[in-house]
Amino acid sequence: MPASSAAASSAPASSASAASPASPQPEGVRSEGNETIAYRAALQVIAGSEPSIAQFIVEELAAQRRQLKLIASENYASPAVLLAMGNWLSDKYAEGVPGRRMYAGCEVVDKVETLAAEHARELFGAEFAYVQPHSGIDANLVAYWAILANRVEAPYLEAASAGHVNDLTDEDWADLRRKLGSQRMLGMSLDAGGHLTHGFRPNISGKMFEQSSYGVDAASGLLDYDEVARLARELRPLILVAGYSAYPRRIDFARMAQIAADVGATFMVDMAHFAGLVAGKVLTGDHDPVPHADVVTTTTHKSLRGPRGGIVLATAAYREQVERGCPMVLGGPLAHVMAAKAVALAEARRPAFGDYAQAIVDNARALADGLSRRGARLLTGGTDNHLVVLDVAASYGLTGRQAESALLDAGVVTNRNSIPADPNGAWYTSGIRLGTPALTTLGLRAAELDEVADIIDTTLRATTVATVGTGPSRARYELDGSVADAGRRRSAELLSRFPLYPELQL
Ligand SMILES: Cc1ncc(COP(=O)(O)O)c(C=O)c1O
Repeated sequence: MPASSAAASSAPASSASAASPASPQPEGVRSEGNETIAYRAALQVIAGSEPSIAQFIVEELAAQRRQLKLIASENYASPAVLLAMGNWLSDKYAEGVPGRRMYAGCEVVDKVETLAAEHARELFGAEFAYVQPHSGIDANLVAYWAILANRVEAPYLEAASAGHVNDLTDEDWADLRRKLGSQRMLGMSLDAGGHLTHGFRPNISGKMFEQSSYGVDAASGLLDYDEVARLARELRPLILVAGYSAYPRRIDFARMAQIAADVGATFMVDMAHFAGLVAGKVLTGDHDPVPHADVVTTTTHKSLRGPRGGIVLATAAYREQVERGCPMVLGGPLAHVMAAKAVALAEARRPAFGDYAQAIVDNARALADGLSRRGARLLTGGTDNHLVVLDVAASYGLTGRQAESALLDAGVVTNRNSIPADPNGAWYTSGIRLGTPALTTLGLRAAELDEVADIIDTTLRATTVATVGTGPSRARYELDGSVADAGRRRSAELLSRFPLYPELQL
């Protein structure tokens, strides 16, 4: 259980009382100390084959215990989730879907996948859930090709009176491939907080689609729905994508769905970052993408607090094509990870997860307020989700790269992030992104997040730009060792009150 005992309500399941609605924990299976016994034994077994890896696993735990984790895309999964991945389910090949596999002997994997999909469907209220994607990028790739198959390939086959792509003539096949490769997508720009997988050139999605972006209003930093509608009318994309990795506000998905419908676009939402807030019913109504989108993708390891992986949710209309994810773009499913997804989703279906999701948002607001009160400039002026984007150039005269490094010296781990029209570009950046899912799992609450805001502000105020040659560096910085030491001590003090995996002693 990641959370400290002082804040058990936010924790993934560790107590015997926190039973899954689908499969109650047998009495006595989880007792105090089980995690320590399990991991000590596992590490001994691993050390028998490669002692260095056993050592690195222990080192990583120590490193994570030393740092205040404010990376918005990370979390701490429960030992139950982590342990569900370390077993022989990994050894089975199971291309296909439950009941329709390319390999014999998949009866157990069928049960695993069916249970995980059932939990996902129930949790999010989706018509269909596909739990095979190995990551968020894979979930998006499945979604894009499912939409292309549904909107471009299927009508083409019908018009050609062909039942299958193999039935097409070589000329028709070449023609269809050209059509598949020339579709338009409209998504959020990278510097406004969009994601590389939403049609940007370095990612395969940028090579597949003619992509255009909508940004945010220059003055408010908020999404401008009228501008999105104008662009959609002008470009008439096949797919309108919503979702972000660094936008600190809620999105009106009902409005976005209407914009998509008005131009005949498929509406897809990538909720990788905020799936935990949807699962915990903090984002509801117009802010819940599932009732409004044709296809919703997510990662499972961010605010949802599961294993590394992805999920695609879809309306019944897209089910047939989404189910072809493997082998269309995915290799054989990772049965051990699907098992861990089922465990995490079962945890997310418990009422305590709703409290956790609400605490993530309350903590983000406390962090934002704490930083603002100390004079920092935040994009959009604050947050109403799980993340805060701090403009470190305007606030402290630093690049994101300098701020990220200085904060690490003070025991705070973050990541640098572009801001709209970033003068420092995507590598050095002018912002840092701060997220609260991980610290909330540990049990920190508003008072502690104000303390975190003070550690951040004090450290960055004391950080100055180093000179390289004749000019200012965008990477090097100066920070008095005593300030860094004080920051590390304060971070360590917080972590000692809210330890990571407190019942785990290796
Ligand atoms: C919005 C969004 N989509 C997709 C991804 C990709 O997820 P993964 O790293 O699991 O492939 C991320 C990860 O950063 C993300 O933030």
